[in-house]
Amino acid sequence: MAKPAARRGNSRTAALALLEAVLQRHQALDEAIATALDDGRMAPLDARDRAFARLLASTVLRRLGQLDEVIGRCLEKPLGKRLSRLRNTLRLGAAQVLFLQTPAHAAVDGTVGLLGAKSPFRGLVNAVLRRLVREGEGWLTSHDAARLNTPDWLWQDWCAAYGEATTRAIAAAHIAAPTIDISVKRDISAWAQRLEAEVLPTGSLRRPLGGRIEELTGFDEGAWWVQDTAAALPANLLSAALQPGQAVVDLCAAPGGKTAQLALNHPVTALDLAADRLRTLAANLERLGLGAETVCADATRWRPAVAPAGVLLDAPCSATGTMRRHPDVAHLKRPVDVQRLADLQAGLLEAAVAMLAPGGVLVYCVCSLQPAEGPERIAALLENHPDLSRQSIEATEVGGLSELVTPQGDLRTLPCHLAELGGMDGFYAARLRHQG
Ligand SMILES: C[S@@+](CC[C@H](N)C(=O)[O-])C[C@H]1O[C@@H](n2cnc3c(N)ncnc32)[C@H](O)[C@@H]1O
Repeated sequence: MAKPAARRGNSRTAALALLEAVLQRHQALDEAIATALDDGRMAPLDARDRAFARLLASTVLRRLGQLDEVIGRCLEKPLGKRLSRLRNTLRLGAAQVLFLQTPAHAAVDGTVGLLGAKSPFRGLVNAVLRRLVREGEGWLTSHDAARLNTPDWLWQDWCAAYGEATTRAIAAAHIAAPTIDISVKRDISAWAQRLEAEVLPTGSLRRPLGGRIEELTGFDEGAWWVQDTAAALPANLLSAALQPGQAVVDLCAAPGGKTAQLALNHPVTALDLAADRLRTLAANLERLGLGAETVCADATRWRPAVAPAGVLLDAPCSATGTMRRHPDVAHLKRPVDVQRLADLQAGLLEAAVAMLAPGGVLVYCVCSLQPAEGPERIAALLENHPDLSRQSIEATEVGGLSELVTPQGDLRTLPCHLAELGGMDGFYAARLRHQG
């Protein structure tokens, strides 16, 4: 087994590869962890190295604005665009010094060690990190961390939608490590005890992050699955408006967290465009001992043989509500993505309405904080469809948390909701009934 210092060395090299994948090649962090670390260019990583590499890269991505600000103070002139590897190396070192409580000598020497023995930048990295060891913490106290770590366009969009105080609370939630939320098939109190988890008012279990999910009790027997507590609300809102046994179509279903919830009470057709993601959905349902018909198709074109009483449309979106779990999203998404996705969501909504049985219920949801992907889509849909009306969501349906329900009667969760218990993903959902 490798010595701790070597292990950390592996993790730092891996974290640098992850940062380059996300920030230079615009690859999602999860995808990079699955591919960039196993491309044969570095020693294979075990689970602990991998976890530490993820922690290092995630910390840099969460704190990028602050890290660049303090590094900038130590440089006489900004680094040229081509020096991305050097920039990422400095960010990794600074994150260890300032946010990960790594002993100073290990952070400095380990980071300098990422450069080749003949690199002309060894002295520079050494000097910058030593200055941060001496002065960095003091500089942090003057930071507006929320503002610095949030890209301008997101900050402006959120301030317009939620106000500055709430935007600050959202940004504060993004800095903290997320929890593990669990949806159970049944016997929630018994599983709370067995998993040493807390029962949330919204009906999920919550544990602190750590350990391997597959090793937790009940995983192999398919008693539960991992799902953010906000992500668990939309399927419940659909089921609550239907009778058990009524047929449901889950239009953008993979990897299947919401399909599993629906399958507890309804016959479900689970559709997704991506064949590999649909295979994951099938494997997840098999582990859980739940059934659904699976269809690989484009939801904008596919139509069911029999119109369903309920449709869930968990549309592809910018995922800006998931930045607690996916800090890479802040650096990968652009306003143009929101516009493109809003057009796709409008097409998917029209298809969902077209397949609904008369009197049927549609729940639309996105894990985005951007109004253009949520309330604006529903306002446009209702304008085009006088045969649809909103079926307001009641606070009692979401654990009595009235702050999750908008004045229009839609669901709007924010990362800063339930802050004292660890927050939740940002989700928007609307429930509509066909007048038929
Ligand atoms: C937000 S994810 C769904 C998450 C899923 N509902 C769950 O709870 O696990 C969106 C999904 O939409 C799928 N998708 C994107 N465009 C689609 C289309 N035109 N037709 C069907 N599925 C599509 C993607 O492959 C992706 O799996």
